[in-house]
Amino acid sequence: MNVVCIGSGYVGSVTGTAFAVLGHKTTVLDIDEKKVGLMNSGKSPIYEPGLDHLISTYIGKTLFATTDYSCIHDADVVFVGVGTPSKPDGTADLKFIKLAAEGIGRHLNPNQYTVIVNKSTVPVGTADLVSSIIEETSGLKPNVHFAVVSNPEFLREGYALEDVFFPDRIVIGADHERAGLVMKNLYHNLVNRIGYAEKSQDFIFPHQIPVTQPVYFETDVKSAEMIKYASNAFLAVKISYINEMARLCEVLGANVTSVATGMGLDSRIGNKFLQVSSGWSGSCFPKDTAELLATSRKYGCELTVVEAAVESNVQMHNFVVDKIKRRLKSLNGKTVGILGLTFKPNTDDARKTQASVIINDLINVGARVKVHDPQGMEMFQALNSNLDVQYCEDAHQVAANSDALVLLTHWDEYNVLRWNEVFSSMKQPYILDTRNFLNQAELQALGFAYEGVGITTSENTGVSEVVAV
Ligand code: UDX
Repeated sequence: MNVVCIGSGYVGSVTGTAFAVLGHKTTVLDIDEKKVGLMNSGKSPIYEPGLDHLISTYIGKTLFATTDYSCIHDADVVFVGVGTPSKPDGTADLKFIKLAAEGIGRHLNPNQYTVIVNKSTVPVGTADLVSSIIEETSGLKPNVHFAVVSNPEFLREGYALEDVFFPDRIVIGADHERAGLVMKNLYHNLVNRIGYAEKSQDFIFPHQIPVTQPVYFETDVKSAEMIKYASNAFLAVKISYINEMARLCEVLGANVTSVATGMGLDSRIGNKFLQVSSGWSGSCFPKDTAELLATSRKYGCELTVVEAAVESNVQMHNFVVDKIKRRLKSLNGKTVGILGLTFKPNTDDARKTQASVIINDLINVGARVKVHDPQGMEMFQALNSNLDVQYCEDAHQVAANSDALVLLTHWDEYNVLRWNEVFSSMKQPYILDTRNFLNQAELQALGFAYEGVGITTSENTGVSEVVAV
């Protein structure tokens, strides 16, 4: 098929590359000349493990990149994967979606049936909005010349290639039968894993191809749009829940890692997304929960569970700052080293990251802050120019003369530091590991005061007596 992907960001560049790998002639369309130029020179416009390799292999063969909307004319399927940032009131800003819809409308071919696919996370009802903009701009009829369907993305940054080629499920919301058939045809090879074996040398992820095939789930447009929000809010609730359990475990002297393992053995609960952190953050969960809450309020249908998860997440950021304060007594004039600025490892994405909140709080109580991240420093600095922090070349530079070293993002490289050097270079050898990721035994043996979250350590043994009632 002839596929166009509008947007070369985290969604569009991965989706477009995947369809090109699957053999469809795919054009990634973006108004940003720099990103298009990068793709045409065989480079990824975002940091995503394995993507550079695939783009350089397929560019000019089945993958193309352009700033010219006229490629819409020949497209069978047009994916819309542009950004939908939050407005101050929490609702999604659809300005880029509207611009894309107008662009599609101006170039739609009246002599063929084109399916427009909303891939971006958009509020329920956006497919109808896109359809009416295209109808108005093109003068063509929905469900005759074109149809708008919903196909939410479930890509995790850092694992996007694994998720795009080997998803659990593909959700298609289509209210027009012909559009549903086009989508089924488009996804046929992906669902049935056709053409994967001979291309396996092209993949860096995953190391092992999963045995199960994805479920291809067809539903109506609005339900598909809702599935995305309901899924992300559920995951946010799940993390807030385990983080709250971690706080209680810590007081009681239980170990949240064991608790999560024990809970996860129940197949109804599952073992994923039960890893403690300093709170969830990033470009999706904060934005999607805010949009869902704003919409629910608008329609008088309050989502108290989601509201509580958001509130609990803020408490989790505060909990980390309080722990550092408790340990160092006063933060005034103390130096805190932060490892990790992105919301999770294997991404350069530093949008809405918990690091910015925690660092801001630390600075407000008088701390000097030194930071490092393997990929996210540039974006973090651009987005947080108000934060007066020292950007360091590596973790060792962060640790030098610090009173505390706080791990926020569990990048693999932080597990293999020269810990004895770190120990002797710190003013106070105190480590707060918010992901329970580092080797506690090794660090304690070296003499570090080590604290995790929700686990017992030499620094925290819980209450001395748990009273049975
Ligand atoms: C998420 C969804 O997973 C994905 O399906 C959707 O398409 C986009 O939003 P992403 O934002 O890339 O993906 O990250 P994800 O891996 O889901 O992590 C979100 C946040 O939760 C991160 O800050 C992460 O560190 C945190 N997290 C995740 C935890 O704190 N604990 C966990 O157990 C899992």
